[in-house]
Amino acid sequence: MYIEELHLKNYRNYNQLDLKLHPKINIFVGNNAQGKTNIIESIYLMSIGKSHRSSKDKEIIAWGQDHAFLMGKFNTTQGQKTIEIGLSHQRKKLIKRNGIVLEKIGELLGQVNTVLFSPEDLRLIKEGPVERRNFLDREISNLRPQYYYALLEYNKILQQRNHLLKKIKIQPSLRDTLPLWNEQLINMGSKIIQMRLHFLKKINVFTKSLHHEITDGFEKIELFYQSTLISSLEEMQQIKELFGKELKKSENNDIKKGTTTIGPHRDDIKINVNKIDIRSFGSQGQQRTAALSLKLSLIQLIYTETGEFPILLLDDVMSELDQKRQKKLIHSLQEVQTFITCTDLSFLEDIELKEKKIFEIQEGRAK
Ligand SMILES: Nc1ncnc2c1ncn2[C@@H]1O[C@H](COP(=O)(O)OP(=O)(O)OP(=O)(O)O)[C@@H](O)[C@H]1O
Ligand SMILES: [Mg+2]
Repeated sequence: MYIEELHLKNYRNYNQLDLKLHPKINIFVGNNAQGKTNIIESIYLMSIGKSHRSSKDKEIIAWGQDHAFLMGKFNTTQGQKTIEIGLSHQRKKLIKRNGIVLEKIGELLGQVNTVLFSPEDLRLIKEGPVERRNFLDREISNLRPQYYYALLEYNKILQQRNHLLKKIKIQPSLRDTLPLWNEQLINMGSKIIQMRLHFLKKINVFTKSLHHEITDGFEKIELFYQSTLISSLEEMQQIKELFGKELKKSENNDIKKGTTTIGPHRDDIKINVNKIDIRSFGSQGQQRTAALSLKLSLIQLIYTETGEFPILLLDDVMSELDQKRQKKLIHSLQEVQTFITCTDLSFLEDIELKEKKIFEIQEGRAK
């Protein structure tokens, strides 16, 4: 899959931008604060429906303007796809696919697949479990919209259960209604855990071989699902029983705290390199390479799952890698449309790249 054309209007520091893109490598070069990441963000936005930088859509609208408009023309194995997004200070976000308005963001998922890698991805390794759960939730939702809907449902049930837990503190007789919520939580939560385990099993294979290659065989990476309930697909048959038992065990504690303390909303991924927990003990370079392997392995996974390569967005990544790794990265991207932002082109000196287009970005203009 690749994007052929990108059109932006009143989008961050672009009044108007109309780009014809190369099906292979597109390089955006320019000084700081000129609008390189803004372009990457706009392509990401068309695949996920949200920005990776701000949670508030309205921040994207160019200052002093009333609305922003984005449009992308994509070439896919299922034919041409047009995605349009309209943002306005007054109205809710409007998303269209091939001219037809999408009622829910869920309908956009899986239409355009992107893999974004930026220096902030180091957080995926370094920060707390929330980052890694978000990673799982976003990536699985994109591949399986039913996961996205299961997650929405689970979060709704969880909220209602938590609300009830708080009420039980004041009115203990309400405790009788807790099993009803437990059952729903267990049903939906088990589905989520199962899909996460499937995803991790698949991605583990790709991450291992990529990491092996990037580190010249010196490092072996392994991902594990970390849960109070189960950690492998083999245990899946017992999940409902286990979940029920654990909920019962933590019931008093949950009531005391007014929140549900076990379930997929508390789970995590553990990342080991050479059998050592890289989050606590990895060097900065090891952590960065682990994040890169993990993100790049999504390309292979998406390809095997959908039959089509995603679009790769590499924001500020080249300057973070040594020359050897830059070369390896570029050479592994033969078939993938890739966007690279950078402040200079020195990384190209040693690399032969025929199929590319270079855009110079300056003050919200490209040439
Ligand atoms: N809503 C907005 N309206 C107008 N300008 C905006 C808006 N949001 C952000 N900007 C401006 O966009 C500019 C470019 O941002 P961007 O992050 O794309 O730069 P960049 O070229 O990636 O820089 P760097 O090399 O530092 O990463 C910033 O100076 C920022 O102030
Ligand atoms: Mg940037």
